Amino acid sequence: MIHFVKLAIAATAVLWSSSASAKSSRTQGTTSCASVAAPTVPGAQVLSIGGNEAHNVSVAAVPGLLGSVVTGLNVCNVTVVLTHPGANDTVTVTVWLPLQGWNGRFQATGGGGYATGVGVLALAPAAAAGYAAAETDGGHDSNLESPSSWALTSTGAVNWPLLTDFASRSLQDMAVVGKAVTASYYGTGPRYSYWNGCSTGGRQGLMEAQRYPDDFDGILAASPAINWPSFIVAQQWPQVVMNVEQTFPSQCEFQAFVNASIADCDGLDGVLDGVIADPGECKFDPYKLVGSTILCDGSEVTISWKTADIVRKTLDGPTAPNGSKLWYGLNVGASFSGNSNTTIVNGTTVGDPFPISDTWIQYFLEKDPDYNTSSITYSKFAQLFAQSNAEYGSVIGTDNPDLSAFRAAGGKMITWHGLADQLIFPNGTVNYYERVKREMGGATTVDDFYRLFLAPGVAHCVGGNGPAPTSPFDAVVAWVEQGKAPDTLPAKVVDTSGATVTHDICVYPLVSRYDGKGDPKSASSYSCSTSF
Ligand SMILES: *[C@@H]1O[C@H](CO)[C@@H](O)[C@H](O)[C@H]1NC(C)=O
Ligand SMILES: *[C@@H]1O[C@H](CO)[C@@H](O)[C@H](O)[C@H]1NC(C)=O
Ligand SMILES: *[C@@H]1O[C@H](CO)[C@@H](O)[C@H](O)[C@H]1NC(C)=O
Ligand SMILES: *[C@@H]1O[C@H](CO)[C@@H](O)[C@H](O)[C@H]1NC(C)=O
Ligand SMILES: *[C@@H]1O[C@H](CO)[C@@H](O)[C@H](O)[C@H]1NC(C)=O
Ligand SMILES: *[C@@H]1O[C@H](CO)[C@@H](O)[C@H](O)[C@H]1NC(C)=O
Ligand SMILES: *[C@@H]1O[C@H](CO)[C@@H](O)[C@H](O)[C@H]1NC(C)=O
Ligand SMILES: *[C@@H]1O[C@H](CO)[C@@H](O)[C@H](O)[C@H]1NC(C)=O
Ligand SMILES: *[C@@H]1O[C@H](CO)[C@@H](O)[C@H](O)[C@H]1NC(C)=O
Repeated sequence: MIHFVKLAIAATAVLWSSSASAKSSRTQGTTSCASVAAPTVPGAQVLSIGGNEAHNVSVAAVPGLLGSVVTGLNVCNVTVVLTHPGANDTVTVTVWLPLQGWNGRFQATGGGGYATGVGVLALAPAAAAGYAAAETDGGHDSNLESPSSWALTSTGAVNWPLLTDFASRSLQDMAVVGKAVTASYYGTGPRYSYWNGCSTGGRQGLMEAQRYPDDFDGILAASPAINWPSFIVAQQWPQVVMNVEQTFPSQCEFQAFVNASIADCDGLDGVLDGVIADPGECKFDPYKLVGSTILCDGSEVTISWKTADIVRKTLDGPTAPNGSKLWYGLNVGASFSGNSNTTIVNGTTVGDPFPISDTWIQYFLEKDPDYNTSSITYSKFAQLFAQSNAEYGSVIGTDNPDLSAFRAAGGKMITWHGLADQLIFPNGTVNYYERVKREMGGATTVDDFYRLFLAPGVAHCVGGNGPAPTSPFDAVVAWVEQGKAPDTLPAKVVDTSGATVTHDICVYPLVSRYDGKGDPKSASSYSCSTSF
């Protein structure tokens, strides 16, 4: 949850220094900001449009998400409000048009958690890089962790129109509005249009490729929250296990297992760097820690069999009572702090579920905000998993492997996913890519428009011990505009010793293999290979 907590806190720390009176000379724009034309949006009615120039805008940095503070930004800030007749929704699309130095491109930005968009946090860096940029609220508030304000209608039924907006509809509205507003303001439409998102934003990017294949020339769909109805419920599995087994290990205990698994499997790729590069090959046995003693907050704790068993079940992933596998588990080496969080209340350690899965079960499955998720048994869990797919698979599954229309439209798409993602199981992304490959006639066909990159040791969207891609969005742009299909994504991390480690992450299914000589912290000592 690290990512979401930081984002929620930082979103309130956005700084504005915007003065309406300061007039900088507008070098682009054939129309004044205040008179941008209202767009025509299929299936929607535009309720209002307003534009104001915002000068010298600053947006605070969000560690890991927005690397640097954006300052001195001058944009035409256009707000379009629309509704879908019969849906009783009010959707806002915000477009930021750089007053100087527009690069001729449009970039739509994605959301996180339950937020359809992350507002200025995504708009600012895109506009600062010269893009006409857009985001949408999808018709609801920007609470990342809970849909409490919008999931249910006043009569307690699922609010299908707003779920549809979040899942798909408002994304296309944003594409249509963003391009039209850009064209009206500059007098010419964007030469190229792009999608940029991670997590929920990654899911949205894939939704665009699946349902609205003509919207974007290029899509970056990182750590995507696809297979939503499955993986969101699977995120609750570790909590169900802890509740059923009535054992709640501390995060310190879980970390002892993470450390032991890294010690066991770090060297499988021939490099000792604190990263499990090949979690699929790691045969870590949690039970071997039973009886060992670790130090947590100055006290000695002896690892119990039950704790080891909880770790085993978490790594294995959810199963139904009859033993059939429901979804993937946590990748070995990833942190337990997301889905297996626990907290100490009045001296007792209790489960602290990941809010997005907890509230999904309460609001969308049980339709009861007070539903007590601690009471979920193994058989109830299997029921919830099936229900989630039956009710919501076609709405927000975002797992249609037929990308032929996107390919035919000339679209290019990159997905990368950290192999130490603590929230979204990377195997769900691999599963989807493999299904696309089967559906579309093999790797050669798919590689000419859709490429997957797996980043060892990288956590959800940001963080972790492994080098993370430094500029995957630019790789999409280079692919679209210069035909440079990326074989590798340059990646970087500063390790615990303070040294900079670089890698070139190889296109899946290739892996980045150490040449056996040279600096293991340097990308130049590795080559792409079929195995380690
Ligand atoms: C785990 O739970 C604690 C206590 O509620 C909370 O402070 C912390 O932020 C959570 N950790 C993560 C990674 O979400
Ligand atoms: C952009 O316009 C919206 C709607 O008027 C306003 O709420 C927001 O503060 C504006 N942003 C800036 C940076 O001026
Ligand atoms: C722009 O804003 C910064 C603070 O963010 C301020 O220091 C600076 O004086 C402002 N510049 C102008 C031209 O208003
Ligand atoms: C429309 O939505 C508003 C809240 O946005 C709600 O108060 C109202 O009851 C809804 N109307 C209908 C007919 O559902
Ligand atoms: C796990 O390893 C980290 C980094 O070496 C260390 O700081 C931490 O104390 C270890 N935790 C446990 C429980 O062994
Ligand atoms: C998950 O994907 C990895 C490739 O990253 C593979 O090695 C592993 O076998 C997969 N695990 C499962 C359970 O499918
Ligand atoms: C096992 O249970 C799951 C979930 O309840 C069900 O989908 C599956 O069909 C069952 N498999 C068998 C072999 O009974
Ligand atoms: C913790 O203990 C205090 C004092 O006994 C009590 O008032 C409070 O309700 C307890 N909190 C929880 C969450 O059980
Ligand atoms: C929720 O369920 C658990 C397990 O059945 C129970 O111990 C707990 O008291 C319940 N909490 C509430 C608020 O009912």
